[in-house]
Amino acid sequence: AQTDTGLYKELYRPQLHFSPKAHWMNDPNGMVYNKGIYHLFFQYYPDGSTWGPMHWGHATSPDMLHWKEQAIALYPDSLGYIFSGSAVVDEKNTSGFGKKGQAPLVAIFTSHDPIGEKARTGKYENQSIAYSLDNGITWTKYAGNPVLKNPGIADFRDPKVMWYEASKKWIMTLATQDRITFYSSPNLKEWTRESEFGAKAGAHGGVWECPDLFPLTHAGKQYWILIVNINPGGPNGGSATQYFTGQFDGHGFTANHTNIKWLDYGPDEYAGITWSNTGKRKIFLGWMSNWAYAGEVPTHPWRSAMTIPRELGLANVNGRLLIKSSPVRELKKQEPPLLTITNNRATTTKGYDTVRNEEPYMLTLTADTIKDCSLVLSNKEGEQVIVGYDASANQYYIDRTRSGKTGFNKGFASRHVAPRFATNHTLRLVLVVDRASVELFADDGLTVMTSIFFSKSWLNPGVIDGPRGGDSKIVVSRLGRVWK
Ligand code: FRU
Repeated sequence: AQTDTGLYKELYRPQLHFSPKAHWMNDPNGMVYNKGIYHLFFQYYPDGSTWGPMHWGHATSPDMLHWKEQAIALYPDSLGYIFSGSAVVDEKNTSGFGKKGQAPLVAIFTSHDPIGEKARTGKYENQSIAYSLDNGITWTKYAGNPVLKNPGIADFRDPKVMWYEASKKWIMTLATQDRITFYSSPNLKEWTRESEFGAKAGAHGGVWECPDLFPLTHAGKQYWILIVNINPGGPNGGSATQYFTGQFDGHGFTANHTNIKWLDYGPDEYAGITWSNTGKRKIFLGWMSNWAYAGEVPTHPWRSAMTIPRELGLANVNGRLLIKSSPVRELKKQEPPLLTITNNRATTTKGYDTVRNEEPYMLTLTADTIKDCSLVLSNKEGEQVIVGYDASANQYYIDRTRSGKTGFNKGFASRHVAPRFATNHTLRLVLVVDRASVELFADDGLTVMTSIFFSKSWLNPGVIDGPRGGDSKIVVSRLGRVWK
């Protein structure tokens, strides 16, 4: 529970990142902005701390940082568990669920029938809808559910719906085994199959889940982004988020590349998708865990947290179109620097005592050189996470081998790597550190890594290998006041 000072007291409890008060959470669902409120629904099992019959839990926030947990929004029913999906503001009341002058919120989700799954019918996942007339607090399921029946594809789930203005219809992006199938609808109730994508593109080391489709503009030109989460088959093992850049014409998606692109190379961002109804801003948030060990992490009485919200943009790096992610600007309203270190060329494994605190912080390192360098996040118990750049491999890395409790899963204590895409001669790393996680945004978010850890006490920042051969600056700012 939250205390008077705004700090959660449970061991490993994140302060800045959303986590439910108790019990199991996985994917973010139904993220929609409406009337000044950011909604975050999530895969939730209220009767235990491992995965179970899925509900949609609910939290609301004015700024995506201060969350208030609300009552459970959707409970399992005769069609099955409530799996992942999305929510939209039906501005034109195409569904007819609205009342005069009041646009309904409509949630589109997968009904997963566990009995059908056991019987191997191959048709146990179907899409259903529900609506809310009180800005997401209470929901009514549509009597005509399911609205999209399974044609016989066992994995048939996680509908992400958006309004496609050019042809004035809704587009559903659906994960179908290791393909994406697009459907369209005039009213959210009747769906027509449009096309399939993915046979010859992307990573196929696992099942495709939780997709998303949206436009982003770069240099005056609009591109379409297709996010496809995959489990397993991620770049550092287990589950991860890949994406495609290309074009969407109202019927189908065409990628403009054949190589695989990962939105986050770390082990602990999954099922990430974006909020709907945020205008030109595209804000992404993922589940901060990995299916490889999510059920084993040593937290109690809750399991799992979400990443910080990230604003997405596009960059052209030598002809390659890449997504760049950065912490939302709401998070950057941080306090004045707590610590500024210029031209540190030290080789030490000691953290800076001056920043010993019990609060989340942001660390920014700018160096006028691209030689090896590494930062250490450590505590007095000698536990540490190392974040660095390896010039000879041209890779960033996060090493959590000695980060505290790791034995709950045999693959957990490891070092993860990610390529550097930027080609300029300045290193720029931004770290967001909370009680049990670090998120690395390198080169303005061209390379991103998220990693969780379970240290006995807070990890404070220090330098192992200061950037040599050029000027450098490290700034540490508390994020405490941002969320209190
Ligand atoms: C992804 C996922 C989704 C599914 C949900 C079930 O993590 O497997 O595909 O809808 O979790 O909880």
